[in-house]
Amino acid sequence: MIKYLVIGDPVSHSRSPKMQNAAFEKCGLGSPYGIRHVKPEELPQFVEYARKNFRGVNLTVPHKQMVCDLVDEMTPRAANCKSVNTLLITDGYILGDSTDGVGLEQALRYNFDLPVNGKRFLFAGAGGAARATAIHFACSGAESIVFANRTESKAVEIIRDIEALNTTCRCSFAAPQEREAMAAAIKNCDCIIQATSLGLKDDDPPPFDLELLKENTDLVIFDTIYKNTKLLQRARELNIPCSGGKEMLIQQGAESFRLWTGMEPDLDAMREGFELPPGGVEV
Ligand code: ATR
Repeated sequence: MIKYLVIGDPVSHSRSPKMQNAAFEKCGLGSPYGIRHVKPEELPQFVEYARKNFRGVNLTVPHKQMVCDLVDEMTPRAANCKSVNTLLITDGYILGDSTDGVGLEQALRYNFDLPVNGKRFLFAGAGGAARATAIHFACSGAESIVFANRTESKAVEIIRDIEALNTTCRCSFAAPQEREAMAAAIKNCDCIIQATSLGLKDDDPPPFDLELLKENTDLVIFDTIYKNTKLLQRARELNIPCSGGKEMLIQQGAESFRLWTGMEPDLDAMREGFELPPGGVEV
């Protein structure tokens, strides 16, 4: 019986069913997690259907912002970033949560032993992924965040939202094409988070001029894209510690699992499930 699922548009590439069912199976709970293609215009109707028929939902692109208006309550961390990727449904009552930020935080710990607290970040991007994760970082003690994004107004919007939360995190904008500003931002950060969608396609340009990266720089690079991007290739050439988005996807899923079950998932089982072919039982 399917009681949990991931929805998105598109969604067939999702690794969540295999990854989540691996965790459910380890807890003796069978394989209750499916998949469903939901278009943006179908979202309100789907949420009402889910209210009566499911216990948990993961939402991927493009639903994370729109669903905020459809839930009964949001956790503080979801309200802070105005993004929801997880629904917990209890007796028809829908709580929306956001596990992307904590997922990236845990991934940095796992991959680099890097805490968020006290660290300086350069985010490439100011779209949905950057918003959810950067706002979580600002609320988790990050010392500073520079946003490098093609469209300045989107970065300014996130910076305003962070300022309204009265954190101690200093935020600023750097134009990706301005070499001096970017060189300074790279020099003065502990970690670059690549959070644009650039890199999904093989012929995408990098999010900034990779010549700006230097060998022996004391930083780490995390690319939220689950691919061997040009940024990651360049980082490896320069011996800069780096990693792609896999562990973030696993950790955000693990946090959803905790919310739904109150149990600690077997992370290694989830990592094995993640490597299986994508997709799952359609509901
Ligand atoms: P996601 O949910 O994956 O974050 P999104 O909200 O559409 O998706 O955000 C996409 C991000 O990639 C944005 O930062 C976007 O930059 P803009 O804010 O300027 O649109 C960035 N991006 C996408 N295509 C790009 C391109 N060709 N050049 C530069 N940045 C690009």
